[in-house]
Amino acid sequence: MTRILSGMQPTNQLHLGNYLGALKNWVALQDVGENLFCVVDLHAITLPQDPAVLAQSTREIAAAYIAAGIDTAKSIIFAQSHVSAHAELAWILGCMTPMGWLNRMTQFKEKAGKDRESAPLGLYGYPVLMAADILTYKATHVPVGEDQKQHLELARDIAGAFNRRYDVEFFPLPEPQILGEATRVMSLRDGTRKMSKSDLSDMSRINMTDTPELIAQKIRKAKTDPAPLPSNPEELEGRPEADNLLTLYAALSDTTKRAAIARFAGTQFSLLKAELTEAAVETLGPIAARMNALMADTAALDAILRDGADKANAIAQPILAEAKQLVGFLPR
Ligand code: AMP
Ligand code: TRP
Repeated sequence: MTRILSGMQPTNQLHLGNYLGALKNWVALQDVGENLFCVVDLHAITLPQDPAVLAQSTREIAAAYIAAGIDTAKSIIFAQSHVSAHAELAWILGCMTPMGWLNRMTQFKEKAGKDRESAPLGLYGYPVLMAADILTYKATHVPVGEDQKQHLELARDIAGAFNRRYDVEFFPLPEPQILGEATRVMSLRDGTRKMSKSDLSDMSRINMTDTPELIAQKIRKAKTDPAPLPSNPEELEGRPEADNLLTLYAALSDTTKRAAIARFAGTQFSLLKAELTEAAVETLGPIAARMNALMADTAALDAILRDGADKANAIAQPILAEAKQLVGFLPR
């Protein structure tokens, strides 16, 4: 059986990296099996969040899922904090996760910064909660962007640790699905850095709700290099900005990077930028419009999340109950 699960944090705005690296693939995978897409609000509070903003962002992410094409008739959309099994299983799994495994997580090192002593426990345990998100449903496939690969390998290790400790084949080892041409979208200002919600410069990213004018401006100002575009992939070596813009074009036009390179070989960046703008506006414009319409009716969104939480709970609770029994907790 195939069961897909993935999630995004309700922190800041979603950008083109979130869309191409994750959301677009979720939409395409919906017909395969059972799908759960959560808004990971428990993960969001691993760093301080304004409560009112967090609540609104949680709705906004749910709206983005639906606007991008997640269909509530095929997929379950819910807020992580509405299903208590995530937090409960995270505790159990945390008790069999060696600190040495967590010490290797590059995202923790980045987010904690230099002052590691002040980093909260939740930020350190973030990947354990992520493993719990997946395993609470015995999910088999997890579509994510490339930056989540290390966390998914850890989730597999944690599943294995549980199975070994209780000598069972209880949790399946979840498969990462890192799909499409744009698995790692880079900043428009610096092709060696990931496009990120937390980058201080808004010009570094294209947000899913940016206006066509703003999208055009950001692409026009995107960093380039002086040479014309190359005619083969090898020549993209050492040209991260050219590489990124061609990748974005390919992903947004549903073509391959190879075809994009052939299309723009020997031309100046201006042509690529013009066509990229067109493709981005064409893709994101309708999604932004649907998002805004959905956000205008928060009661309806909240009802979708409540319904999703009921369905998610119905899957999670029996699995959690069985896990607790394996651990040796008394049945109630
Ligand atoms: P986050 O914003 O960290 O909650 O990420 C949500 C999803 O978007 C995850 O699957 C990430 O791997 C993916 N993602 C985030 N940034 C990028 C990026 N720059 N390129 C591709 N995928 C990304
Ligand atoms: N850590 C992921 C990110 O920042 C979000 C996430 C939380 C997730 N739980 C998950 C992704 C479970 C896939 C499956 O992008």
